[in-house]
Amino acid sequence: MPDLAVLNISQLVTVAGSPRPRTCGELRELGLIPDGALLVRQGKLVAVGTRARIEPLLAGDCEVVDAGGRIVLPGFVDAHTHPVFAGNRADEYELRAAGVSYREIASHGGGIRSTVRRTREATESGLLAAARKYQEWFLRGGTTTIEAKSGYGLSLEAELKILRVIRQMDVQGPLRCVPTFLGAHEVPDEFHGRIDGYIEVVVKEMLPRVAAEKLARYCDIFVEPFVFPAEKARVVLHAAAQLGFGLRIHADQFTPDEGARLAAEFRAATADHLEATTPAGLEALKTAGVQPVLLPASVYNLGSTHYPAARRMIDLGLAVVLATDFNPGSSPTASMPMVLSLACTQMKMTPAETIVAATFNAACSLGLSAEIGSLETGKAADFAIHDCNDYRELPYFFGRETARAVHRGGLCVYK
Ligand code: NIG
Ligand code: FE
Repeated sequence: MPDLAVLNISQLVTVAGSPRPRTCGELRELGLIPDGALLVRQGKLVAVGTRARIEPLLAGDCEVVDAGGRIVLPGFVDAHTHPVFAGNRADEYELRAAGVSYREIASHGGGIRSTVRRTREATESGLLAAARKYQEWFLRGGTTTIEAKSGYGLSLEAELKILRVIRQMDVQGPLRCVPTFLGAHEVPDEFHGRIDGYIEVVVKEMLPRVAAEKLARYCDIFVEPFVFPAEKARVVLHAAAQLGFGLRIHADQFTPDEGARLAAEFRAATADHLEATTPAGLEALKTAGVQPVLLPASVYNLGSTHYPAARRMIDLGLAVVLATDFNPGSSPTASMPMVLSLACTQMKMTPAETIVAATFNAACSLGLSAEIGSLETGKAADFAIHDCNDYRELPYFFGRETARAVHRGGLCVYK
């Protein structure tokens, strides 16, 4: 395949810098190159710089893309999504609009368990077809990598079915998918009142099988006193760590600190949500080097105003990540630009901080920072041309599809 060059970039946002997760002031360093250009060979970046420096390097058969004076960003790395499920929950959305709460709906058999019932009935090909539709939505926002969780099966067969769909999405592309096993997302109907029995299935049947078939890189669990309280979650996390899974935890979405403390205790890669976490919980994350993954779209969509304390986290030196939490209940959006907008207006992050949190820091949280998350020579040519002239316009003009073109490994996968 011939080389590919991208020229006429008003601002090339490289996010180049330290190879470690970015904290404090580093979160504002975009490695911005005005009038930038890129050169791609065999799917990798071979030169990144000003147009004046890159243009003389172009060979005769090089394919040239004119960015039209727009910005170019690394492909977003969405480090928390639940993209494989059947049906949707527009009915519950209507109920919530009428004032019924997310937890009330869940306690009457709705919520996660209603999606589980439908997902169990669906075929693998039906789930893959639905996931393909959502994949397109991720691309439209400029996302090229997602972390994808199971968790709407809650039986051995149904969880394996979902993880196989995630594997197929990754193999068939164009979105890169990092799989996470979330068998402990909820206690399924048939184990109602028998949480220990379900945990035994997760630990003795599901985890070993998922490990043997190499169907997931991470294990996640929904830690809440009314779902999996800390003492139950510990059993799952211990078993997962023994089998070599990295750990990510749904922590403190509604109740303070159990989740954050557990994430620190197990030195999890990430603690996600953290809407209810107190300063003590944040200190524990800092000491243990856990990355917070903030999900403002789920706060917004649940009609809450209780956003996580992003500024406090940044001041403490935590390597903050932003993600969509795409799922049919709390956060039916695949749009990273929308998440960036919410982070700026509701959590007072600066536009630059939101970009670093959604690219490089997210890649770090998935152990992929050597390959993706910034535009530096030797890394994958995963990037998006966004319809803006200045990077601040990305969150500022909110609620639109900003990506003009998206490239994964140099190939144009969305236009
Ligand atoms: O991250 N909190 C648990 N899991 C999801 C919600 C899943 C759902 O409502 O279906 C979340 O918000
Ligand atoms: Fe989630």
